[in-house]
Amino acid sequence: MREDPPNPFFVVAVDGPAASGKGTIAQDLGGWLKLPVLDTGLLYRAVGVLVEKSGQSLDNPEAAAAAAETLTADQLEDAALRTRAAGEAASRVAVHQRVRDALLDFQRTFANQEGGAILDGRDIGTVIAPLAPAKLYVTAKPAIRADRRWKQLKAQGERVTKADILADIRRRDRRDGGRDTAPMKRAQDAVLLDTSEMTIEQAADAARRIVEAARARWLTPS
Ligand code: CDP
Repeated sequence: MREDPPNPFFVVAVDGPAASGKGTIAQDLGGWLKLPVLDTGLLYRAVGVLVEKSGQSLDNPEAAAAAAETLTADQLEDAALRTRAAGEAASRVAVHQRVRDALLDFQRTFANQEGGAILDGRDIGTVIAPLAPAKLYVTAKPAIRADRRWKQLKAQGERVTKADILADIRRRDRRDGGRDTAPMKRAQDAVLLDTSEMTIEQAADAARRIVEAARARWLTPS
C-alpha cells in the first residue's frame, strides 16, 4: 500500500536574483501544472510604493511595517509596481523584519492552498515553504540579467542605460543577499538553474524537467 506523500499539496518554490528568469519560469510552470502562481516580489514592491507615496523613508521600519500591515491583494495589480524605482524601493523595505513578518501569512496561505501552488521570490525555499517538494534557484550572470531587465524596462517606456541597470542589479544582489533577515540564498535542497546561456524556451523546458523529477520523487513512497 502506498503511503501518503509528505506534503499534502505540491508546492514549487522558485527563488533567485533580479531578472534571472524566475518570474517567467514560475508563470510557465503554473500554466503547465495548472497551479496558481504568486510573484512575491510584488508584495514588497507594493509596500515600497506605499511608503514612498506616504512621503516617509523606505529605511524607516515602522512606516514600512505599517504599509505592509494594511496591504490588500487588489493593490498588487498596479502597473507602477513594475518600474525600476519600485524594484529598488522593494529591496529597501524588504530588509525590515516586521515587513517580512507582516507578509508571511499571506504567502503561507497561498502556498498551502488545496491542489498546490507556485511561488517565486527570494526566500520561498528557505523561509516561506521550507518543506516544498520542488525547489529551484534560478540565476544568470549579472551582465545578462542587466541586459534582460534593460530590454524589459525600455519596452515599458523607461529611459535608462544598461550601465545603470547593471549597477542596480549589483546593489540589489548585495542588499538582498547580505541582509540579516531571510537573505536571498539557495536552499540546500534547491536545484540550481543557470539561465545565462538559455533562451526563455530552454529555461522553461529545463525547469519543467527539474520539477517533473521532483514530482516523481514526491509521489514515490520513501
Ligand atoms: O523582478 P525582480 O527579480 O527584479 O524583483 P522582485 O522579485 O519583484 O523583488 C523585488 C525585491 O523585493 C527584491 O530585490 C527583494 O529585495 C524583495 N523580495 C524579497 O525580499 N523576498 C521575496 N520573496 C521577494 C522579493
